Amino acid sequence: KYIKEVKGIKILEENLKDCLGLKEVLIVPGNLEHSTIKQEIGRFTAQLVKNMLKDGDILVVTGGSTLAQVARSMRFNDKSMNVKVVPGRGGLGEEVEIQANTIASTIAKKIGGSYKLLHIPDSIKEENVDRILAEPSIQRILEILKKANILLHGVGSAEEMACRRDMSPGQVKELLSNGAVGEALGYYFNEKGEIVYITTSVGLHLEDLQQIDKVIVVAGDPAKARAIISVVSPKFHDLLITDELTAKEILKLK
Ligand code: BG6
Repeated sequence: KYIKEVKGIKILEENLKDCLGLKEVLIVPGNLEHSTIKQEIGRFTAQLVKNMLKDGDILVVTGGSTLAQVARSMRFNDKSMNVKVVPGRGGLGEEVEIQANTIASTIAKKIGGSYKLLHIPDSIKEENVDRILAEPSIQRILEILKKANILLHGVGSAEEMACRRDMSPGQVKELLSNGAVGEALGYYFNEKGEIVYITTSVGLHLEDLQQIDKVIVVAGDPAKARAIISVVSPKFHDLLITDELTAKEILKLK
């Protein structure tokens, strides 16, 4: 029975990989309950990333409850590692527990690496971005981000993320009427994968993903299937980690 299940997951991974045009897809097996999906995906991803990391790596992370689970489930290393962990974008207006800064520092401590933080206030005005960018301390982080070789990011449904980021009801309505279904790194995408809105922030831009060796998307929840389809693209992503139910839902929608 076990072998049959493993085979089933392998087939599902292949199907999803072909459907999304990605190089690699990994699926956490089981008909997981909503509340355990994130935990299981977090545990799986933490182990995978920890095994992948080597001295000299620069790992970039985003925020979110999924990434927070990855950080939480990561085991402590007995020795230190020459790995830097950096948040991908600053000030996306989330609770501190699930902010990219917190996740970067937690992971860095667990692996015995170092971290840098992006101290950027939330919802900065467009006209202030250039000034912030000119700050030497910010410049130093942006230089590190340019050399990053692994990125781990989550995906949110557009509506949930807009609300979590305190957009006004009017703004949320406008965003949705512009077709936004998914969000990642502060970018909102429509069903066709086109960008419909970008939050003002400082850090990685979508184009930068092409320069990063390994871009990993971590997202699981059947309710996020549409969002995942809108965000994930072979142009930017190398690996998708999701769970069985979400994988099936994506295949159903595609
Ligand atoms: C946010 C990231 O913190 O978390 C987003 O900035 C991401 O880019 C989101 O989409 C995912 O959140 P969650 O809680 O569903 O993992």
